[in-house]
Amino acid sequence: MTTPITIFDTTLRDGEQAPGCSMHLEEKLRMARQLDRLGVDVIEAGFPISSKGDFEAVRAIAREVRRPRIAALARAKREDISLAWDALREAPHPRIHVFLATSDIHLEHKLRISRAQALEQAWDSVALARSLCDDVEFSPEDATRSDVDFLCAVVQAAVDAGATTINIPDTVGYTVPAEYAQLISTLRERIANLEAATISVHCHNDLGLAVANSLAAIEAGARQVECTVNGIGERAGNAALEEVVMALRVRNDRLPYRTGINTEQICPSSKLLSELIGFAAQPNKAIVGSNAFAHEAGIHQHGVLSNPLCYEIMTPESVGLPANRIVLGKHSGRHALGRRYGELGFPLSRADLNAAYLKFTDLADRKKNIYDQDLLSLLPAHLRSVSQPAPVDGGDIKLRPKTAAAGIR
Ligand code: KIV
Ligand code: ZN
Repeated sequence: MTTPITIFDTTLRDGEQAPGCSMHLEEKLRMARQLDRLGVDVIEAGFPISSKGDFEAVRAIAREVRRPRIAALARAKREDISLAWDALREAPHPRIHVFLATSDIHLEHKLRISRAQALEQAWDSVALARSLCDDVEFSPEDATRSDVDFLCAVVQAAVDAGATTINIPDTVGYTVPAEYAQLISTLRERIANLEAATISVHCHNDLGLAVANSLAAIEAGARQVECTVNGIGERAGNAALEEVVMALRVRNDRLPYRTGINTEQICPSSKLLSELIGFAAQPNKAIVGSNAFAHEAGIHQHGVLSNPLCYEIMTPESVGLPANRIVLGKHSGRHALGRRYGELGFPLSRADLNAAYLKFTDLADRKKNIYDQDLLSLLPAHLRSVSQPAPVDGGDIKLRPKTAAAGIR
């Protein structure tokens, strides 16, 4: 038996807040439709008070995207909450997400209010949101740098006022896994009736720990994870949806939890997002980076070609990629080179492969990217219909047809 985890996607809110990631209404709608296909449980569609465009985008998503829950962010203020509700009211499953900072540094320097005022504001705003909507999430912003007794007092007030989800944000990506797990356990021990609400986690990646922290929190009792496609988000980003989901799936032996994510939609979602915001995930990004299923080193290529399990812990198909990529470069071996020649229609004899391999390693030492055209130019002369060598960056090489080449073996 595995325990369900709610996937709360905030690509269109926290993700969109990141530099260079803003999207206009039509783009947000396209992404929301894709998140629906991906199977997320909650789409945080925006922060309606922040701009007219965001208000309209939340409203359009709330009207059109019917299966997932649609959330809108609001500060703990009357005008934010009522505007969030205006944007959400046509959604079949709306959620108002209210946040208020609880760390002293935020209270003193950003909000300029006392702890007592914050406590009251938390209670009032959750109660107001609940008077409008049955589903209310409360986030004590900067929870991980807050005084734990005060944090407990504010969370207790939010639960008492009717919050249905309590989210514990690691706003500045400061916590570490064991500490974060301990915080979740402490809240579960100290807050009366917390079991009536869902505990959620929201981790930023300033120390590269957002996913690790999220997983640690799940093990401590959190049942909702807030995350974004490609891990986009403020500064170093948010926990990456694809990493959380695939960690739970691949390591289900250690993490007996399940999500409703259709994992084959992970790479299509990542690609659509990249197209909309104009930049891709870094090449070495787990799961969705262009190198995530690419193999260049000869030993690895040999292993993967014999059995992908040698160097892959999940199949590319399981995340929506057609196949792994064998990249030919200076670290590659004969095995991969021979395989590629075969795919190009030239299954080489051992002697021909050895000859081509010598030329290949020489070329790969000088050239970063090796294209098929380069490989064809390295073929022994008797396999080419013209004997003069072609330029290494490609050229008009006439090749014998596959059957003829095969006959030479
Ligand atoms: O990082 C954060 O604290 C947030 C809250 C608004 C949930 O994004
Ligand atoms: Zn955040």
